[in-house]
Amino acid sequence: MKVADIRRTFLDFYASKGHTIIHSSPVVPGNDPTLLFTNAGMNQFKDVFLGFDKRAYSRATTSQKCIRAGGKHNDLDNVGYTARHHTFFEMLGNFSFGDYFKHDAIKYAWELLTQHFHLPAEKLWVTVYAEDDEAYDIWNKEVGVPAERIVRIGDNKGARYMSDNFWMMGDTGPCGPCSEIFYDHGPSVQGGPPGSPDEDGDRYIEIWNLVFMQFSRDEKGNMNKLPHPSIDTGMGLERIAAVLQGVHSNYEIDLFKNLLAAAKAAVESVSETPVDETSPSLKVIADHIRACAFCVADGVVPGNEGRAYVLRRICRRAIRHGYKLGARGPFFYKLVAAVEKEMGEAYPELRNPEIAKVIEAEERRFLTTLSKGMEILEDAIAKTTDGVLDGSVVFKLHDTYGFPADLTADVCRERGLTVDTDAFDRHMEEQRAAARANAKFKMAAGLEYTGAETVFTGYESLEEKGAEVIALYVDGEQTEHADAGAECVVVFDRTPFYAESGGQVGDTGRAANDTTILNVMDTFRIKAAVTGHQCRVAEGGVSVGDKFDLRVDEERRAATQRNHSVTHLMHKALRTVLGDQVQQKGSLVTPEATRFDFSYSKPVTEAEIAEVERLVNAQILRNVDVVTQVLPIEEAKKTGAVMLFGERYGETVRVLTIGNAVEFCGGTHVARTGDIGFFKIVSEGGIAAGIRRIEAVTGMNALNWVQTQAGYLNETARYFKVPGSEVPKKVGDLISTVKTLEKGIDQLKSQMASKVGDQLVEQARDVAGVKLLVARMDGADAKALRETMDKVKDKLGSAVALLAAVGAEGRVQLAAGVTKDLIGRIKAGELVNFAAQQMGGKGGGKPDMAMAGAHDASNIDAVLASVEAWVAEKLA
Ligand code: ALA
Repeated sequence: MKVADIRRTFLDFYASKGHTIIHSSPVVPGNDPTLLFTNAGMNQFKDVFLGFDKRAYSRATTSQKCIRAGGKHNDLDNVGYTARHHTFFEMLGNFSFGDYFKHDAIKYAWELLTQHFHLPAEKLWVTVYAEDDEAYDIWNKEVGVPAERIVRIGDNKGARYMSDNFWMMGDTGPCGPCSEIFYDHGPSVQGGPPGSPDEDGDRYIEIWNLVFMQFSRDEKGNMNKLPHPSIDTGMGLERIAAVLQGVHSNYEIDLFKNLLAAAKAAVESVSETPVDETSPSLKVIADHIRACAFCVADGVVPGNEGRAYVLRRICRRAIRHGYKLGARGPFFYKLVAAVEKEMGEAYPELRNPEIAKVIEAEERRFLTTLSKGMEILEDAIAKTTDGVLDGSVVFKLHDTYGFPADLTADVCRERGLTVDTDAFDRHMEEQRAAARANAKFKMAAGLEYTGAETVFTGYESLEEKGAEVIALYVDGEQTEHADAGAECVVVFDRTPFYAESGGQVGDTGRAANDTTILNVMDTFRIKAAVTGHQCRVAEGGVSVGDKFDLRVDEERRAATQRNHSVTHLMHKALRTVLGDQVQQKGSLVTPEATRFDFSYSKPVTEAEIAEVERLVNAQILRNVDVVTQVLPIEEAKKTGAVMLFGERYGETVRVLTIGNAVEFCGGTHVARTGDIGFFKIVSEGGIAAGIRRIEAVTGMNALNWVQTQAGYLNETARYFKVPGSEVPKKVGDLISTVKTLEKGIDQLKSQMASKVGDQLVEQARDVAGVKLLVARMDGADAKALRETMDKVKDKLGSAVALLAAVGAEGRVQLAAGVTKDLIGRIKAGELVNFAAQQMGGKGGGKPDMAMAGAHDASNIDAVLASVEAWVAEKLA
């Protein structure tokens, strides 16, 4: 059975048991800041298990894209060295949300394995959580698995519930005891059954994990009962494929065979030596290209933090393995096509030309430092005497040459060395401390604060009387007083100033009392719910304990709010026009404009933009009230409000209803949609694979923009003396006229060359029985020279010729020609260089025609005069 057939059989089997087939969620999890990457089929149903979310179905089945590289489940270091670890893999799963439980989960699994995949029952072993008598009995009494092939496994990892048979999604979240199914590859393979000292061998391989979801673990480690016992299972597609295809390693299944062949070919395309097809490096590459391609397809771009850095590490590790195999140019990106070929049908998001481009860019970036870095690493390895690589080398490679630490460790492991990670960590910490110290000079960063929270009154009012200064900072240090002229950061007990967050810029304005004026230049969060006001003391002085009347710059705030409110309407309209693929990836809301980044895999067309503008302006024209409710988070989720990925939400949240959009938002907003005025998109473009950016304006800014654009059009129309509506046609006409003219000019030039050629022919002289023509054609370009040369040769029949043209800034163009019958005696290349060298130039070409350029025309006549003697000597 091919991989594609296995996937299909699995999904169809569960569909026949009443399960809804759901598409894989992206490898970047939505709405879950606790997860770096999607690492199991159940991730997309986490909230359904927890009871926060309801679906129209209570049984589902998926083939889920998973990445286990970084985070709780991390397999990166094992890839390439074992038969079945992957950074990316597909997990087949079936799920019950409070529907069936252990009985059916176990029976379905058994039925599929033995009756549809036709695995012999005696080859299958199972494990259960030691305390789970119920599961034990189902296996033993109902399914008929003999006791000697059922293993109980308890808390074998050092704490309560820490067990191979107790599955947790992460440190928090749904979890429960599980039962695993193993396949016995037979006595010819080393290894013992699960739970035995020899279990890590390759003979007994876990193929399927059935999790009986019963609890949710919280931050404190408490196990809270789930509303309904549920089922979550996961079977690695690559593993079951290996079993069904009768091969021992995942890398021998059909899909990987093809990827490995593609990897070999790609490396060889930039290598001088053939690649050994058994090299583990090929496996690393074949594995990593899947993780990279899927990451990029789902909107991750290599970078220095979070999942972007994980992607960079995977990419660079693969590139280094290619380098080890002899690759000396970019090869890795070429494999995207192979992944698409194998998996594009099941995962159409792979059909995106941006993916290869993003990977190629990363590859080219790393290739600039890779070989130098490898040289340094080889040197350091050669000097190592105690089997441990110096941590400062690891740091230097990381810092200067872009070698992620685990890449260096990977190389060391191949050489039987380890790395001094403590020393590496020390260097990293020192660097971070230095960065923090630097940041102290910046107003916003690194302020230490332990006092009370700031009460924010800016949703209702732009003014606050008698706010008290409760902390004050100058140059990053806490202080009691700041004088006139000083720049300082002030914390008040309450404030109407909005601190930059959620993409909305901080407020500006003024704080004043009888003696002092503070210009508030920016407002930011020192920490959650503590607002720092970046101020200049314009008059008087400020001390802790002083009271001030605060006033936000109303116009600026209003302009910012228009842009913020409209961002929600735009988000909604984009989803309406482009579909649910649109997910907010970032935003910046200033008084001038709103900038909105979102996931979408192709350019948004002009017509789609126009439709978004129309939808948003329609909501504005409805002029309805903007309503904000403050709700406990669980209640808020029930409103169906759109949550933003990566945002951490507190216990209570603000749910904003604006026009037809309902979203969580802590920002400040207009009172009615009509306050936005007018909305116009001013630009749209791609900023990374699968990420688009739209910039838009509102209110007077929108009017200004439209007036400016209209001004351009009017000005153009005046040139053409037509109304604006006729400008496009005029421009089109003009372009075709210019093209016709250019063609005409080219023809004229040829004719002139021919004429000039005629005249020049008369200047040819006889040297040693051969016609020689040496002439200047100042002002002619290389093309004209070449054409004239062709004509001259034609006309003279048998001749040697050199044409020279002095152009702008004394640059010299030279063309030498020798008719075919004479090339045995004199070569055009030699002739052109004889002349060019004397004028500081150089050239080349064929024996019958050569071109050269030179930059010193000062002695050109003498040079040309010298040609006759040189030719005479050659011909003698
Ligand atoms: N979620 C379970 C696992 O990943 C099935 O093993």
